[in-house]
Amino acid sequence: MFSPVTISRFQNIETPFYYYDLALLNKTLQACKTAADRYGFHVHYAMKANFNPKVLTAIQSYGFGADCVSGNEVKAAIDNGFGQDKVVFAGVGKSDREINMALDADIFCFNVESIQELAVINELAKAKNKKARVAIRINPNVDAHTHHFITTGLDENKFGVNSWQLNDVVDALRKYDNLQFVGIHFHIGSQITDLEVYKSLCIRINEMQDWFEDHGFKITVLNTGGGLGVDYHNPDTNPIPDFEGYFKVFKDFLNVKPGQEVHFELGRALVAQAASLVSRVLYVKNGQKKNFLVLDAGMTELIRPMLYQAYMRIENLSREAETGSQKSEVGSQTSEGQSHISHLKSHILKYDVVGPICESTDCFQKDVELPESFRGDIFAVRTAGAYGEVMASRYNLRDAIGSVYSE
Ligand code: LLP
Repeated sequence: MFSPVTISRFQNIETPFYYYDLALLNKTLQACKTAADRYGFHVHYAMKANFNPKVLTAIQSYGFGADCVSGNEVKAAIDNGFGQDKVVFAGVGKSDREINMALDADIFCFNVESIQELAVINELAKAKNKKARVAIRINPNVDAHTHHFITTGLDENKFGVNSWQLNDVVDALRKYDNLQFVGIHFHIGSQITDLEVYKSLCIRINEMQDWFEDHGFKITVLNTGGGLGVDYHNPDTNPIPDFEGYFKVFKDFLNVKPGQEVHFELGRALVAQAASLVSRVLYVKNGQKKNFLVLDAGMTELIRPMLYQAYMRIENLSREAETGSQKSEVGSQTSEGQSHISHLKSHILKYDVVGPICESTDCFQKDVELPESFRGDIFAVRTAGAYGEVMASRYNLRDAIGSVYSE
């Protein structure tokens, strides 16, 4: 929800841009920290969700670690104040250069995704006379009940090793002297809203850690990955995810042994609600069957709706500000208010809200019910703080998108 002051501030800023609500970001981070601290759990923020420096500075100030998936993310984490002992480095395709860089930085741990990668990290660590700490990413074969494009924990995904490869994994770990095995890592998918799924994950993790211990390997880190979802439909009524419920599932179902640390890699849940994409209507095209609103932002600024058919709430802030003031009039003069309401209702239209990019897939949403909209109206696409700005591109040689902050 945007205050009239914020909306009038937007009028004077060139669009499109990402608008960050830093107060909400801080509230969310505090809620996560309080819930995780209750059980002594460790959170490594999944930097891929958003690496805006202001966001990173806020996140590291709560003492979270960083989950990185490229050498540049490792560097950005350290440059933005995350201690290197709280950096983990995951990814199915780490290059030699990236591995060397992370070895030089003495990061906490590599989350390793294949047996061949174990060999490469061992060799590179040996050349530096170092021991690399490694956790093995295992596919738990748990269905995350989320969109198939962002499910990762099933067998035969490109990520991690499968359970039938574990004998080869322990053989490799025994053989390689420059690796120090610290634990096991899982990640079953993203935008998970059914917490029962995490119960199934805990059961698999318990089986897996018993298997490793039976084979003589002590586990000090259980890394459960990330994936906690957010409410894209109701950003105002449900702005902060249920961190308490989420961590409690792990407290109740994960078999944590003395001396073990439990790690989480949350991305979306920490940052998604804290930003909106703010854009203006360039053109209104009224057709015979359809009306189009052409915004000055498109798939180059925010690709989630186009790439994953993701729902993200779209609001006309200019008209809502107006509707809001008419609604308050309704409260004071009932009979006239009735006519206001029907007047407003008659001006709700259906629009396909599209971007300016030369691709027909460049559509945020079809058939959106909105107040009648006009050239120059300010629009917000909500819940855009995760996988928004970071996935922007320069396609069509668009300008790089900027950011505006609440304070
Ligand atoms: N850990 C690993 C190993 C991951 O692959 C991911 C996300 C995370 C943690 C953080 O997941 P989160 O808590 O944010 O769900 N671009 C897609 C989402 C891709 C997720 C990739 N991996 C989207 O916009 O929905």
